[in-house]
Amino acid sequence: MTMESTYQKIEKTVARELSCSAHAMKHVMRVYNLCLHLAKYELNVDLDVLKTAALLHDIARVKEFNDKTGNIDHSALGAEMADKILRTLGYPEKKIAHIKHCITAHRFRGKTKPQTKEAKILFDADKLDVLGAIGVARCFMIAGQYGQKIYSDISIKEYLKDNVVEEKADGMVRDISKHTPILEFELKFKHIPERLYTQKAREIAKERLRFMENFFEKLKREIKGEL
Ligand SMILES: [Fe+2]
Ligand SMILES: [Fe+2]
Repeated sequence: MTMESTYQKIEKTVARELSCSAHAMKHVMRVYNLCLHLAKYELNVDLDVLKTAALLHDIARVKEFNDKTGNIDHSALGAEMADKILRTLGYPEKKIAHIKHCITAHRFRGKTKPQTKEAKILFDADKLDVLGAIGVARCFMIAGQYGQKIYSDISIKEYLKDNVVEEKADGMVRDISKHTPILEFELKFKHIPERLYTQKAREIAKERLRFMENFFEKLKREIKGEL
């Protein structure tokens, strides 16, 4: 079996797992493409590990979403599911361990931090997907899902006090319907570049953030009737 047909097999397995969420699979493929792009700017990347980890990184996302206990972490469960799949496909032990590390370490607020180049590229590509035009599209789609307003004028200080656990910028939001895309931008997206590992991803993140900043500024002025 060639590597290309192996990737296709993995992609099909992931698509089946995420079949009730078309957005999730589309995200996986965007992250996969971004990983390949970022890898061009790094030396000695194991593309086999990177491609496989990118395809598998969110395999447990629907399972986490459907879990009522709150105990499922899709990065940990995803690594376990990947282990079984990769063993069946005959991946060598060392590669399986490396791919599992990439999956475990891809979460923004996860305890495990990416240690290898491939894990860092995957982490960065995954975060870039919430920024830029795609980021705007995604946060408004979520706003629709949770009945959020298009825009809110509340100060960050006031909002943290009102709706965020411990009033911390990265704290858990109490009532998701009170959240808005611009608050997500102010509280989370703006801080992404400083959390990224690769030079190229930081550059892309800054450019994508500038676009978002302009978008939200224009939105604010249109709402006020100034433009
Ligand atoms: Fe994820
Ligand atoms: Fe992801």
